[in-house]
Amino acid sequence: MKTYYITTPIYYLNGDPHIGHTYTTVAADTMARYKKARGYDVKFLTGSDEHGQKVERAAEEAGVSPQAFVDGLAETFKGIWQLMDIEYDFYQRTTNPAHCESVKRIFKKLFDSGDIYKGSYEGLYCTPCETFLTKTQAAGDKCPDCGRPVSPISEECYFFRMTKYQDALMAHYDANPEFLMPLSRRNEMLNNFIKPGLEDLCVSRTSFKWGIPVDFDPGHVIYVWIDALPNYATALGFLSDDDSLYKKYWPADLHLMAKEIVRFHAVIWPCILLALGEPLPKQIFGHGWLQYDGKKMGKSLGNAICPKALVAEYGVDAIRYFLLREFTFGPDGNFTQAALVNRYNADLANDLGNLLSRTVGMVDKYFGGALPAFEPNFSNELAETAASMPAKVEERMDKLAFSDALNEIWNVVRRANKYIDETAPWVLAKDESKFGKFGELANVLYNLAETLRILAVVITPVMPKTPAIIREQLNIADAALSEWDSAKTFGLLPRDVVVTKGAAAFPRMEKK
Ligand code: MSP
Repeated sequence: MKTYYITTPIYYLNGDPHIGHTYTTVAADTMARYKKARGYDVKFLTGSDEHGQKVERAAEEAGVSPQAFVDGLAETFKGIWQLMDIEYDFYQRTTNPAHCESVKRIFKKLFDSGDIYKGSYEGLYCTPCETFLTKTQAAGDKCPDCGRPVSPISEECYFFRMTKYQDALMAHYDANPEFLMPLSRRNEMLNNFIKPGLEDLCVSRTSFKWGIPVDFDPGHVIYVWIDALPNYATALGFLSDDDSLYKKYWPADLHLMAKEIVRFHAVIWPCILLALGEPLPKQIFGHGWLQYDGKKMGKSLGNAICPKALVAEYGVDAIRYFLLREFTFGPDGNFTQAALVNRYNADLANDLGNLLSRTVGMVDKYFGGALPAFEPNFSNELAETAASMPAKVEERMDKLAFSDALNEIWNVVRRANKYIDETAPWVLAKDESKFGKFGELANVLYNLAETLRILAVVITPVMPKTPAIIREQLNIADAALSEWDSAKTFGLLPRDVVVTKGAAAFPRMEKK
């Protein structure tokens, strides 16, 4: 079976996660579910990035130990992932003893091979981002990523010899045009960071304690990126006593993240892997920011939207749908309540919700809830559109074009509602001379029920809960009818459809 290993970044634990944080995990979870549905052996990793000066300070302010501080927040994050239906296989914490052990071995291995050496660092440092910066990078003494002031710093530290991997990294980019996507990010990395020349990187600190110690030089702790980035490999047991998962699932198929940390993943991490002699991830994808009022959503900017409130109001599937349908995956997207209500009412309440309630309602009204025997006829545009849709969805999903994939699905939802208007079942129900109740009408309702079955299959990666509602109302119990490939054949639903009326899947939302 083909394997598929997908990762999100490990999250900083600095407060409750906001809807911007969930953007990466929802996208990754959707991809993981989609690949599973397509028959891959999938592993999906997320986790938390728990070391560093910022955590040390925050714990001090909260009057607790750093470990107690991160333990509490890791649970908060896991709670949000559960709320958002994120089905990860590994939750890697950088305070996991096994991770720490492997990181120490990585550091030592690089030291032994001469790729890590001791020197002295003079420069600038952005504490919130935990990033060392050169004078050029911190133009105006501001961090280029978060815009906050940077402080001068001078200390003894270990360096990672990035410069040695300049040519190998360039060659890898040349040979793999889709290594970093979208193309705008690839061009940015190549033009702004790789082609101008890599610099050796400071990879240890002596000014704080909350980190993995360099075991052969106790005053030093390992700098965040050599600790955080290798989590993708240590989660699989890299350089541990049991690396069977690593052997099976590495290299990762996809590292997913937002744009501000692409540099670390697409420049530093590949160089670390090259130095270790390990294969590079197959693809890195840097999506845009979820913004609010034109600014990156975040706790420090005070514009963070809480996922709990949104899920309580709209339901988790609606929020997942909105995140992936409203914004093109790649550029930034502006989050507004108005857009959410509009999408919800138009696509979910009106289009999908109504299609289900009208179909079930008509089987109930005209046939007492069970379709009679009829002559099936699938030579209509709806059946053709529905059966040819999954292939189009696959093409879009494989490129992470979530919004386009959902649009293909909703073309079918809209086509089905149009089919109701065209066939006018309420007229057929009155005209028994045209096979009326026992012929054409039953066939029309079957076509609608079968379309809903197909829709339930293909929406599952994005909306894990809604398919069960559709299947319950159409009494679809056979698991084979939920398999991905079953959506490519129209007419698999047994003819004797029985329906059970249920509550509206997406009750209309009042505009505020
Ligand atoms: N700890 C680092 C990652 C280390 S990976 C080896 C980190 N953590 S983070 O908590 O700040 O961000 C985690 C993920 O959430 C990143 O992909 C980040 O870009 C994403 N987002 C945080 N705020 C976001 C938005 N407002 N919009 C979209 N994604 C956002 O970076």
